[in-house]
Amino acid sequence: MKSALLEISYLIGSVTFILGLKMMGNPKTARRGNLLGAVGMTIAIVGTIFLFEKQDHGAVDESYSVPGLVYALIFGAIALGTVVGWLTAKRVQMTKMPELVSMFNGMGGACAALIGLMEYEHNLGQTGALSAIVAGMVIGSVSFSGSIIAYLKLNGSMRQPIRLPQYNVINTLVMAGVAAFSVWMVITSPSDPFILYVLFACAIVYGILFTIPIGGADMPVVISLLNSFTGLAAAFGGFLYDNKVMLTGGILVGSAGTLLTLVMCKAMNRPLSNVIFGAFGATGASSDREIKGNIKDIGVSDTAVLMNYSKKVVIVPGYGLAVAQAQHVIHELESILEARGVTVKYAIHPVAGRMPGHMNVLLAESNVSYDKLVEMEDINPEFASTDVVLVVGANDVVNPAAKNDPASPIYGMPILDVENAQHIIVNKRSMSAGYAGIENELFFNPKTSMLFGDAKDVLTKLVTELKSL
Ligand code: TAP
Repeated sequence: MKSALLEISYLIGSVTFILGLKMMGNPKTARRGNLLGAVGMTIAIVGTIFLFEKQDHGAVDESYSVPGLVYALIFGAIALGTVVGWLTAKRVQMTKMPELVSMFNGMGGACAALIGLMEYEHNLGQTGALSAIVAGMVIGSVSFSGSIIAYLKLNGSMRQPIRLPQYNVINTLVMAGVAAFSVWMVITSPSDPFILYVLFACAIVYGILFTIPIGGADMPVVISLLNSFTGLAAAFGGFLYDNKVMLTGGILVGSAGTLLTLVMCKAMNRPLSNVIFGAFGATGASSDREIKGNIKDIGVSDTAVLMNYSKKVVIVPGYGLAVAQAQHVIHELESILEARGVTVKYAIHPVAGRMPGHMNVLLAESNVSYDKLVEMEDINPEFASTDVVLVVGANDVVNPAAKNDPASPIYGMPILDVENAQHIIVNKRSMSAGYAGIENELFFNPKTSMLFGDAKDVLTKLVTELKSL
């Protein structure tokens, strides 16, 4: 009876994960989707704690009861994890989200690795079980150490990519060595736990070596890749325990992480190998093409007048908007313009900012209506009928070099065609490059005016100016 109920709880868990993930595909249902997945996970955890029955040769071992101390430890750990997770997630700023994801992902990898370390000695000589155990432990360990390095890079504790001489060769050799060691462990099944710990240490070292050469700003792509590793490692745990919810959850995380990695690479027009082995943005790579033209400044009051008498304004938010935390004031600007009869839309580039959906989440935080957020493919044809484009803290995603300079590192990346609008106003603090480290010829376009300053400051002044008109 108990085991039937447990299977039902796993089924509910699995279904809620799938539905929750589907709901996360739309900003309107994303919160509920997240909650639904969390409820499903709670049901599966509670079910496991209270309904799991120890089996002995296929029959339930009635004489076994879980010691009280084990329950105390489980609930103690759950309480601790809940408080820490809740507080951290509540306090984190949007720009720090990749750090948080990376830390949480690292914890998932560590759990998978611990399962492998614990279960190995109970499954000696069983090739099938050992394959799942060793694979889960190795992949989980790589994910754990890789995620911790990603976290350190993102929070600034580890700044530059660290590239050992011939690092690609070293990494490939270490990876091949760890894979060969793992296969040997499964085939020979050595009983000395020390050997298992050596493999564990090698996998940890590989995770570090894999992540340290990668540029800090490429970390979102790598985190997503490591996320898919964690999912895979958890799925091996599901195989081992014949636990359907763990298997489903692991597969979902693994495939979602892989898809997200590929989507990000495609949106940046960079093969994954270039993220892992390349040095995009780190060395200021750029083509030799000289950009001709002059830079034209514009003040806040002229910008206010221009926008006030426009019919249609498109705002292009970028990384700088997020850094400046200017999402609320931009919404205020939009509301004022709308009240004056100006149509305002936001053009959302798939990799604007530093993580997938960054701009959507940022603007949703300030209650910008979802139907004002227009995806790149849909907004691009609209620029020709736009009076003013206001680019706020965005750079690479509006750089025409992506279309017309084959030597540029961003060549081929789809961009927002802002140069088709009547007037282009670009707000940033200086002429510094963006993430790709390259100049932007849009700033030299005769239709472009630069509105220099911190996004929050400038937009606040713009709002005040507009109110006075
Ligand atoms: P970026 O090209 O990085 O440009 C951001 C600009 O914001 C900078 O040029 C900076 O210029 C300006 N800025 C910084 N702080 C500011 C502030 N307080 N006020 C006003 N401006 C400020 O950003 P983007 O156009 O959003 O492009 C995103 C880039 O990140 C792309 O190259 C993309 O491939 C990459 N990337 C994205 C992701 C995802 S999934 N979103 C993942 C990895 C990499 P100043 O210093 O002159 O102010």
